[in-house]
Amino acid sequence: MERTLILIKPDAIQRQLVGTILQRFENKGMKIAGLKMMQMTEDMAKEHYKDLVDKPFFPSLSEFMTSHPIIAIAMEGAGAVGICRKMTGATFGMKAEPGTIRGDYGVSTSYNLIHSSEDKSAAERELKIFFKDEDFFSYNAVISQWIA
Ligand code: PPS
Repeated sequence: MERTLILIKPDAIQRQLVGTILQRFENKGMKIAGLKMMQMTEDMAKEHYKDLVDKPFFPSLSEFMTSHPIIAIAMEGAGAVGICRKMTGATFGMKAEPGTIRGDYGVSTSYNLIHSSEDKSAAERELKIFFKDEDFFSYNAVISQWIA
């Protein structure tokens, strides 16, 4: 079973879209293996976005991500990394396909509601930034026999 990192960003929390976003992943068959509301620090932003620190937009990205609380979720399920990434949609809502989370809930070209790990190695690396081993929970999702 794969795990991926979803971050619910400050814009989604302030727009009270948390339940809606979680519901979409749960409806697809993903299971929450870990969840934390937290304040992202600048150090965490530098670590999480380590390949982007030299990009011109990094200061504004970091300022946004550290401006208000975020929610980190370890999302678990068959093919979780690819499926969650596909459900997330293209980088910003203006271009993201309808039917994706970014495509359905925004037209911003600066703020994009959620982060979803790009691939399996990114997921493994990023999950470690937000979760310790003991932060993950295992339980039976009673619907799994029908959709997995
Ligand atoms: S992707 O597919 O989301 O990883 O897209 P990418 O374009 O590679 O973007 C990587 C992350 O950088 C953020 N980003 C920006 N933030 C602020 N301003 C600008 N102009 C900008 N361009 C890209 C983008 O939201 C990605 O962060 P996450 O958290 O993965 O969404």
